[in-house]
Amino acid sequence: MLKLPGLIDPHVHLREPGATHKEDFDSGTSAALAGGFTIVLAMPNTKPPIFDASTLKLALDAAKQKARCDYGQYIGAGPENAKSAASLSGTVAGLKMYLDSTFGELRLDDMSLWMPHFEKYPRSQPIVAHSESRTMAAVILFAAMYDRPIHIAHVSLKEEILLIKAAKERGIKVTCEVCPHHLFMVSQVSSEERGKRKEGRREVRPRLATQQDVDALWDNLDVIDCFATDHAPHTLAEKDSDNPPPGFPGLETALPLLLTAVDDGRLTMNDIITKMHSNPRKIFNLPEQPETWVEVDESTTYEIKASEQFTRCGWTPFEDWKVKGKVRKVILRGKTAFEDGKILVEAGYGRNVRGS
Ligand code: NCD
Ligand code: ZN
Repeated sequence: MLKLPGLIDPHVHLREPGATHKEDFDSGTSAALAGGFTIVLAMPNTKPPIFDASTLKLALDAAKQKARCDYGQYIGAGPENAKSAASLSGTVAGLKMYLDSTFGELRLDDMSLWMPHFEKYPRSQPIVAHSESRTMAAVILFAAMYDRPIHIAHVSLKEEILLIKAAKERGIKVTCEVCPHHLFMVSQVSSEERGKRKEGRREVRPRLATQQDVDALWDNLDVIDCFATDHAPHTLAEKDSDNPPPGFPGLETALPLLLTAVDDGRLTMNDIITKMHSNPRKIFNLPEQPETWVEVDESTTYEIKASEQFTRCGWTPFEDWKVKGKVRKVILRGKTAFEDGKILVEAGYGRNVRGS
């Protein structure tokens, strides 16, 4: 039996408020525990989006009643909320800036709207940016100009990981995360077709990339600070519709997929511990969880089945994939929270990592 620290996922979409038919704090944090995560940081692109005190209260009230693992809630950067977002920083996980095409209404296209956020948001938390390709270069320039930490969400391209590497070498305060689906899946659409053709269930932002991009991520593991799931549940009916929303569930598949890569000799157990516990804890300034660990049976081989998952969305892009390594037990703050497929803590057991 392998013992891991409680894993931290700095990037999940729990869909509350507004789309609880896809997920809510109860189902999403149950999925987290089943996947070996004891802290999840929830994104603000809900309905309504979380961008001020009253919308933040909607999310935090729901989380307080329903969450089964510990959590933090991001606030979204809007065109006019730089001051209030900064004043709420003590109660949120961090500030999320949507700078590229995504699901929801929080996108900030005009770079002059980024400036007040970079000026005002406290440096004790990173600004997390959804910024792809050249937009990512722009946001790294902002980090350099304002000399403050930024965290690049879901890096997927060779040009991105190489630029982050170069920026780190020059002392710019940039960290980044990569999602399992960008490490294990390749686009089936040619580079020219990508973005023009609908990819059905495989729609995700950032899009699945080329083999060359995937190889560059694996070749630069030391540049990757965190593995994050970007757990973005949409129902199967929505994914199979004419206009499929982008996003994959990922909380229950990340650890088994990554443990399988350890078994294959592509990753080390130390990579898992640093990128799924120590680094996210440091980057996001998260509290220690006493008496918290995850027990994993390293030798169990099985196939991933959506029907066995806690996420409400009812599907996984990894259906039938063979993996090695199963979460047996999760102890969270002294209590057995998950054991052999069952959630054993009540809704409301989870605590806000920002302490309210
Ligand atoms: C996310 C979602 O559905 O909320 N979708 C996705 O494809 N990753 C939005 C996002 O993270 O940009
Ligand atoms: Zn996301």
